[in-house]
Amino acid sequence: MADKQHLETLAIRTQTERSSQREHSTPLYMTSSFVFNDAEQMRAMFADELEGNIYSRFVNPSVKEFENKMALLEGGEDALATASGMAAIFNSMAALLNAGDHVVACRSLFGSTHTVLTKFLPKWNIDHTYVDIKKQSNWEAAIKDNTKMLIIETPTNPTLDLVDIALVSDLCKKHNVLLLVDNCFATPFIQRPIEFGADIVVHSATKYIDGQGRGLGGVIVSTKAIMKDIKAFCRSTGPSMSPFNAWMFSKSLETLSLRMEKHSSNALELADWLIEIEDVVDVYYPLLKTYHSYNLALKQMSLGGGIVTFEIKGGVERGRSFLDAIEVSSLTANLGDSRTIVSHPSSTTHAKLTEEERLEVGIVPGLIRVSVGLEHINDIKKDILRAINNSK
Ligand SMILES: Cc1ncc(COP(=O)(O)O)c(C=O)c1O
Repeated sequence: MADKQHLETLAIRTQTERSSQREHSTPLYMTSSFVFNDAEQMRAMFADELEGNIYSRFVNPSVKEFENKMALLEGGEDALATASGMAAIFNSMAALLNAGDHVVACRSLFGSTHTVLTKFLPKWNIDHTYVDIKKQSNWEAAIKDNTKMLIIETPTNPTLDLVDIALVSDLCKKHNVLLLVDNCFATPFIQRPIEFGADIVVHSATKYIDGQGRGLGGVIVSTKAIMKDIKAFCRSTGPSMSPFNAWMFSKSLETLSLRMEKHSSNALELADWLIEIEDVVDVYYPLLKTYHSYNLALKQMSLGGGIVTFEIKGGVERGRSFLDAIEVSSLTANLGDSRTIVSHPSSTTHAKLTEEERLEVGIVPGLIRVSVGLEHINDIKKDILRAINNSK
């Protein structure tokens, strides 16, 4: 019956079995281990003959509830929660890749994913090729005989380029390559990559899933067969999510659909308004009619999401002055919060790249990223307009 329900209902009504205390809201199982009735039950559970709670590095009811919700929301068969988004990404790669394998990825990737691919995977002789996603025809050329996994983010950070998930998934099936999608910017209420053929979906739960900037977490969703390999790896290597964070994220999922609608409507209104502002050179937002991938956005996204990026005249110095002139929004290294966050990628998150590398992924000196929050849109606009005017 449960799979016939709508996502909003599943996000609310998927809950750990009620305990003898008859609680309404889900309880928190803040325990590192579980007790056995007798030696035989203990033996059988350790031997995998009996399913059940043993130790919270393997399984915990609060974590399981969050995992069950995420598997249902993404349309996967199983899920594993991890301590952070990066733990979800790294452990998916480490569990499924072998020495000598090759990975294809979109060039504009989250910074730490880029670091894993370029600095750490080479230690195990795992190589990668980046693809410029503006040229969709380049994907197939990058696939080699030893390519095992293709990794994409869509929309990308911070330029909000889109990858055609169905197109890339067809290529992956043709070449027997696993497709991993980081769905952090969209969330399953806006985009469900498994419906378009993705094999693995990962999230940083730290972002919209939490939605209030409180805790770190991640999740991997896939088929039972793939999750079996990932779980076996993680059971021993230990990137587990804390039960407290899982409880918090599970409660947050109850309001995710409403929050994504509001983030998206605020963001669309902001993007439309920014186009008319003097000193704004360009505005990037998937559901702007002038956006280069508008049709693709309509095909695979139900809303535009909460991130708007724009270019302000005046380069790096103007970008920094803009941040200094902000009064209400936050200058912080996060996104997907109820509070609006502004950042200047050239001088912060992407400062370690060379100018040429930044331009390759579309990060021009005056680029500003806004993670549009849930405040009243007129207050967000007022703060941004004041900062544009006061940074001249
Ligand atoms: C797209 C994307 N993927 C992964 C991550 C990593 O997540 P975490 O910080 O939870 O490890 C982030 C963090 O900003 C992100 O933006």
